[in-house]
Amino acid sequence: MAVSWTLEKELCGLAEANSVGAALWRLGLTEHAESAVRLEERHGWRRGGAETYVYRFKVISAETTRDVLLKAVTAFSTSRTLNEIADEWVHRRQLLAQGGISTPTLYFAGRALLVEQDVGEKLASWLRRSPSNSIQLTDQVFRLAAVMDRHGFAPMCVFNGLRTDGEAVYVVDFGQDLGPPGVRRRRGKGLLPEAKRWLASVGQQRIDPCRAEAVYAFHLGGEAKDEQGPS
Ligand SMILES: Nc1ncnc2c1ncn2[C@@H]1O[C@H](COP(=O)(O)OP(=O)(O)OP(=O)(O)O)[C@@H](O)[C@H]1O
Ligand SMILES: [Mg+2]
Repeated sequence: MAVSWTLEKELCGLAEANSVGAALWRLGLTEHAESAVRLEERHGWRRGGAETYVYRFKVISAETTRDVLLKAVTAFSTSRTLNEIADEWVHRRQLLAQGGISTPTLYFAGRALLVEQDVGEKLASWLRRSPSNSIQLTDQVFRLAAVMDRHGFAPMCVFNGLRTDGEAVYVVDFGQDLGPPGVRRRRGKGLLPEAKRWLASVGQQRIDPCRAEAVYAFHLGGEAKDEQGPS
């Protein structure tokens, strides 16, 4: 007999809980174990891109509504299991997060599945729509270029996949588009020119080259511990 997939069963299985309320609480998706919570599917499983399938839902309680994404890893590899690939993505994510780059809140990672915060919209669409007041966002793109260079990432097309909630710029794709760390030596201007070109192409952003250089240089070394960068 075929057993149909349900979100409730999946969450209980991931959290090893025997009720949805307990599962959501263990995963950090509700504040209180006894909260009255409703789940609302936004869309069923569908292909996210070359390496993923995604499913979106909302967790609605009296206090908050959370937009959540299930991301199943479906990347092709002859040498690694899907679980190993997912672990590698989590490792890359941690490296960037340690450098101050925003990444979606991760509620669960395992069994080739990620449960994470569903973040706003594509940065490119945001910048096209609201090109003013974007310095805060463009600075984060230069910072990302620096942190990726610091760790020797050689991404294929990381900028186009960036998302935003209007405040922070989030990296959400840690797969082949980002690639592994430690493959490129830090040399010359690294990813800064690419970041500038990408920004100029998407949002008709007016880039101040001095500012871009300053933000990039500040974050390249790794000694920057907080937000006291160029202003
Ligand atoms: N945390 C997230 N919040 C919102 N959207 C997301 C999130 N993670 C991924 N997405 C979106 O889901 C889709 C697939 O995600 P992702 O880029 O991680 O997978 P992919 O299979 O590598 O896709 P692609 O082939 O487009 O690179 C993309 O449209 C991406 O913007
Ligand atoms: Mg990708």
